Amino acid sequence: MADANGLFVSFEGGEGAGKSTQIRRLAERLRERGHEVLVTREPGGSPGAEAVRHVLLSGAAEMFGTRMEAILFAAARNDHVEEVIRPALSRGTIVLCDRFMDSSRVYQGVTGNLEPDYIEALQRVAVNGVVPDCTLILDIPAEKGLERARKRASAVTAPDRFEKEEMQTHEKRREAFLDIAAREPERCHVIDAQQSEDDIAAEIAGIVDKRLAAANIAAGSEAAQ
Ligand code: TYD
Repeated sequence: MADANGLFVSFEGGEGAGKSTQIRRLAERLRERGHEVLVTREPGGSPGAEAVRHVLLSGAAEMFGTRMEAILFAAARNDHVEEVIRPALSRGTIVLCDRFMDSSRVYQGVTGNLEPDYIEALQRVAVNGVVPDCTLILDIPAEKGLERARKRASAVTAPDRFEKEEMQTHEKRREAFLDIAAREPERCHVIDAQQSEDDIAAEIAGIVDKRLAAANIAAGSEAAQ
């Protein structure tokens, strides 16, 4: 992030990888140390993007095809970036985002069968230069992740448009996330999400602490001045 003082961390992975729990734990840890933290998610995170989220996750846009869905994800992302993420970063905030551009590459690009060039063009417009400093990919075999996601869903809601898909599709997504990590090792860290919750939290804390030190962001947020 050339023109910002904050740190932008995105979390990626398949269903049931435990992203939300880990985001909550990291946010608590960073706040305890005096950092300004914003937790947000995609699709959504700004009023405009939350409106689009409903259209996407209900499946209302599915009948119009993957291209339409990809453009809607990109529209939501751009609103979220310009209204929420960029302003937060320029205030020196640490932004923790549950899913970001890599989800579009994987869900719409790889398993949605859209051409990589098309997806990359959409991403350029959507993120408009705001690329995560660090992306944590929580990796779990599809079967295990879905089992967890189902347990959670049956207690609260029905599976969403993307959770309903076949096991093979979920496994393909896992491979696609690992592929992105292999291509962008500077930005991406793969974390074994089958470890205990505490071990995952400790691994994430170590990675983020190093990033904060490298970006010269001190606790107590002198960056906020
Ligand atoms: P959400 O309920 O936030 O799920 P999760 O806990 O899995 O993050 O639902 C988001 C769904 O939207 C998820 O199935 C992945 C999908 N998605 C895309 O297909 N493309 C995208 O660009 C994003 C951000 C999400």
